Amino acid sequence: MIRKMKSKKLKRWGTICVAALTAGALLCSCGSQQFVAKNKIHVGVTYYNQSDTFLNELLECFVEDLKDSGKDAVETTVTIRDAAGSQRTQNDQVKELIDAGCDVLCVNLVDRADPSEIIDLARECDVPIVFFNREPVAEDLLQWDKLYYVGADAEQSGILQGELASDLIKQDGSTDRNGDGKIQYVILEGEAGHQDAIIRTENAVETMKNNGVELEKLSYQIANWNRAQAQNRMQQMIGQYGDGIELVLANNDDMALGAVDAYEKSELSEEDYPVFFGIDGTDVGVQAVADGAFAGTVYNDKEGQAEAMAELAVVLATGDGLQNLEFERGKYIYLPYEKITRENVSTFFKAAVPGE
Ligand code: GAL
Ligand code: CA
Repeated sequence: MIRKMKSKKLKRWGTICVAALTAGALLCSCGSQQFVAKNKIHVGVTYYNQSDTFLNELLECFVEDLKDSGKDAVETTVTIRDAAGSQRTQNDQVKELIDAGCDVLCVNLVDRADPSEIIDLARECDVPIVFFNREPVAEDLLQWDKLYYVGADAEQSGILQGELASDLIKQDGSTDRNGDGKIQYVILEGEAGHQDAIIRTENAVETMKNNGVELEKLSYQIANWNRAQAQNRMQQMIGQYGDGIELVLANNDDMALGAVDAYEKSELSEEDYPVFFGIDGTDVGVQAVADGAFAGTVYNDKEGQAEAMAELAVVLATGDGLQNLEFERGKYIYLPYEKITRENVSTFFKAAVPGE
């Protein structure tokens, strides 16, 4: 079994330092680094789970951006690995990517609180890391000077979602379907411990309160960013509250879509549906706003994040141009979120197609 896996990897990556394979799992060779010419770079990516819609779209953009940077006389190759929800698997993948000669790593941590092994491996072989989307705690990013982060500010996305919901509730009295002056709402939350879950929820709710919206929280459920899980949780809540839910706030578009799926499968008719808000502006999320299934969503700038990652990765790998990039606190690049409503949704269709 082990032999079979090794030969597969060898086929996939070509030259891997044999010494590293035989010396045992914990040693890394750092071997191929010195042979890499600066106009030819190999980028290694590992992300927490290949079932994640937003990240798949982000990485699609990233690969395009790297190809484009190839036009500027830097030839890039990229290897992408799925950690399938296991930090241990991801640590092994980092080892393998370094052994395969990657000049820079882009890491979307499985467990954002547990990057130490990855940082040690990279530092040992002097391979810089761009963490993305799942933000390590600040102290961890200070462990070494070649660590960076590209992402977005969770608080802002929550505020924008709260503003979208407040605006609608104020403009359209029918959102308060039972006319009791309060909005009965439920929350679909992302993974526990993820910076984009609880912070989005808190800020969305706080913003609505600050805007004078009377709220009544009926329930909240964790659905791990996942459409099928959200459908399941929403079915349970519909079972409990029937037509009594007036607003669904979801931490991302896939979970908001799962909630819509649950209503479509329920006995309720459309006039009993709540209004739905997501975050991300994935292709399906943008479509849901255009179709009127969502009242709105918040654009998580995958194009901007992918572009920043690609630019930073090339600069770090070639060792050229770092002074031209702008960072917050020396290490962070945050791309702003934007509101997506029925009125401006057409402009996001274009953005949803990489390369256009
Ligand atoms: C969030 C995004 C989610 C999911 C998550 C994964 O920023 O809104 O849809 O992709 O990251 O870490
Ligand atoms: Ca009400």
